[in-house]
Amino acid sequence: MSSHIQLTDQGKLKHFLTIEGLNRELLTEILDTAESFAGMSEHQVKKVPLLRGKTIVNLFFENSTRTRATFELAATRLSADVMNMNIATSSTAKGESLLDTIHNLESMHVDMFVVRHALSGAAHFIAQHVAPHISVINAGDGQHAHPTQAMLDMFTIRQHKKRFEGLKVAIVGDILHSRVARSQIVALNALGVDEVRVIAPKTLLPAHVKTMGVIPLHDMDEGLSDADVVIMLRLQKERMNSAFLPSESEFFRCFGLTEAKLKRAKSDAIVMHPGPINRGVEIASSVADGPQSVILQQVSNGVAVRMAIMTMTMRSLGGMA
Ligand code: CP
Repeated sequence: MSSHIQLTDQGKLKHFLTIEGLNRELLTEILDTAESFAGMSEHQVKKVPLLRGKTIVNLFFENSTRTRATFELAATRLSADVMNMNIATSSTAKGESLLDTIHNLESMHVDMFVVRHALSGAAHFIAQHVAPHISVINAGDGQHAHPTQAMLDMFTIRQHKKRFEGLKVAIVGDILHSRVARSQIVALNALGVDEVRVIAPKTLLPAHVKTMGVIPLHDMDEGLSDADVVIMLRLQKERMNSAFLPSESEFFRCFGLTEAKLKRAKSDAIVMHPGPINRGVEIASSVADGPQSVILQQVSNGVAVRMAIMTMTMRSLGGMA
């Protein structure tokens, strides 16, 4: 999947489809722009007029709590008009094709589509077919990418660790089916962390995992040793087409994050999870709710990071208020 489609000739963000192909400077610009929005949630008036007059459509063909809600909130705080399409009650159920749905919505003078879809490449496909003034943001496509999630994760890491250089990051769990892990790995390497480790049973690692710029490990003690950041992933059963594990309890015994296993990481390590969490499957409640957990901060940061990405794409397409 080419990433060039998401940049203007001047190298600015037009669409946001994948982290691949984006350089450190651009990723840092997203984080810095998000920083400027982060304090807004404390203000009495939580709105700025940056996207006044713009119309944003949330098109979620897959379930979502965090991504959809924070995209809607981000658009509202930027003063855009937001339309949430309910796909279950839309004409998709009557057999309308994805492109016909897009072209019909486009005729209502839309400026941005935020798309989540079960098929890898769906957002990219839409970006190839919309009018030149429209921006497409990928809110998660199949197993491929979840770039806004990765950027809010990078924001959270920078908030706590102040830097990326020298960090050891451990990503644990179902790497094979995780679009979040794929986007995080690309972002972490582009931002210059020291080490990205992926810890999982062999059945839950992609075949050519070493080519992704990570150290694959199958043992939690080894993988978590001296880690600065521990990112837990859920078992993505909706994408599993065969048996990958003996049982959930066996998975938790070997790869679930408990207080005892977390002691292997640095004492100031942060624990992250993109959500939704499955307590007692990949993470113990005492860790998810414990002092090192920043899981709910990730969700809060999602608003500022999505405001940044929406603003940057609209600015590069011109016509912002
Ligand atoms: N992290 C994430 O994508 O969560 P949702 O599926 O609830 O949007």
